[in-house]
Amino acid sequence: MPLFTRCGISIAPRSNSPKRCRGWLRRLLTRSWLRPFEEHLKQTKGHVERLEKAFKRLDASTRGEKCKAMEGLIEEGKSTLELDADDMVRDALLIGVAQKVEHYEIAGYGTARTFAQRLGEDNIASLLEETLEEESETDRKLTQIAESAVNPDAENQND
Ligand SMILES: [Fe+2]
Repeated sequence: MPLFTRCGISIAPRSNSPKRCRGWLRRLLTRSWLRPFEEHLKQTKGHVERLEKAFKRLDASTRGEKCKAMEGLIEEGKSTLELDADDMVRDALLIGVAQKVEHYEIAGYGTARTFAQRLGEDNIASLLEETLEEESETDRKLTQIAESAVNPDAENQND
């Protein structure tokens, strides 16, 4: 099942650990309107457990090469955090980076789910579908937060 595991590697626990994003996500979480994102960090533990179940079922290892795309997004988050900009502008940019992470995860989980379906691994496909829904919901919440609170304030500070 190399097709699936190759795809899974990019979203595997090691490369997707909340610990790795902690610095800039912590900044997002200090803002009261971003509390829903904290909930997603808790969900991520469940995502890791589901991936571990899927890999175990396939008798595959979750240890693999680092995901360069995710590494790049994490670096983008770190450098955005260090930008010399007003708080609201920086927050708006950080939400944008967080959404890039969510979109990457959605693409990875969606591809892996479809591969699992094609390979007749319905249990794995269901596990991945649950995670995919939670990732999509988080992306929608981030859009709402950005559009309703952060982006308008960032625009005002940018005047
Ligand atoms: Fe996510």
